[in-house]
Amino acid sequence: MALKSHGRKSITVSAKPRDLMEEQHLSGVWSAQVITLLPQAFPGILGESLTGKALRDGLWQLSTINLRDYGLGKHLNVDDTPAGGGAGMVLRPDVMGSAIDQAIAQSRGRTPLIYLSPRGRRFDQQMARNLSRADGMTLICGRFEGLDERVLEHYGVMEVSLGDFVMTGGELAAQAMIDATVRLLPGVLGNAESAVEESFSNGLLEHPQYTKPAEWRDRAIPDVLMSGHHGEIAKWRQMMSEAVTRARRPDLWSAARAGLLDDAVAGVHDAASLSAFLKRHGADEATGPALLALLETRGGDIALPNNPWQAAAQLFWLAMRP
Ligand SMILES: C[S@@+](CC[C@H](N)C(=O)[O-])C[C@H]1O[C@@H](n2cnc3c(N)ncnc32)[C@H](O)[C@@H]1O
Repeated sequence: MALKSHGRKSITVSAKPRDLMEEQHLSGVWSAQVITLLPQAFPGILGESLTGKALRDGLWQLSTINLRDYGLGKHLNVDDTPAGGGAGMVLRPDVMGSAIDQAIAQSRGRTPLIYLSPRGRRFDQQMARNLSRADGMTLICGRFEGLDERVLEHYGVMEVSLGDFVMTGGELAAQAMIDATVRLLPGVLGNAESAVEESFSNGLLEHPQYTKPAEWRDRAIPDVLMSGHHGEIAKWRQMMSEAVTRARRPDLWSAARAGLLDDAVAGVHDAASLSAFLKRHGADEATGPALLALLETRGGDIALPNNPWQAAAQLFWLAMRP
């Protein structure tokens, strides 16, 4: 069987997903450790496609710690009934503590300790970006009713949620977090894929995407995308990104708009730069009515810069984004 060598290690092309998770530690490689009762669920989807290829190429590494190995007694128990009564079972602190001690002993550099939990801070792109700049992460997957609180306090564990819903265990959440983080590591995305222009990278949702055929069931691709005019295409994509964000996620839009406005009008300070700004932003016969409508509805509330040229640019920018 052909061997694939990438300097750090060699593996066969027929390697099974579990073979991708090596015992040995590759120094300097971003590393995810997962504490779980279901180690057989890994790498799962992470062994496929881009994340799987990157794992095979040694761009990141993955290991599991089986919580059952630290279980107590003949039956290797890991859980017990909730103090104070109630339904379900809770993961024991002594068992989880031993597994975490092992994870800490194996990790190096900055490796945040994270418990997947519906009570946690909501996972987002910024968190993925920060985690991709660490040396790795250790993820604790809960099961049953969750984990004894003292473990979280003792180790200063960060709780992270995938969203406002409850799953049966942390494994799917761990795989989602790892996927979103690993694809931001250098070299993981090929040329065809880019994290630069996609949703959230600039605080906005992504513009609509189209591909061939040019017409499908009487629906045509917008002309501008077929024009070959890169400047116009970039302008259209930016406007669509803003419109989609404004319509679907007012929370993201209000966070992004002040920054976008500042960036847009930054270079305007005299008649010539205002004129260039208006041209660049496609001012046309619709500009006048849009400005009037803006002034009628919000005129009194808008704080304007002192420089009158910049103030005009700001009014125009806001008028075009009702
Ligand atoms: C049934 S849940 C426990 C829920 C817990 N009793 C509560 O109400 O917060 C079992 C495990 O699934 C994982 N889990 C469930 N929903 C999650 C979510 N939205 N985000 C991250 N992890 C989640 C956690 O690891 C949790 O310990």
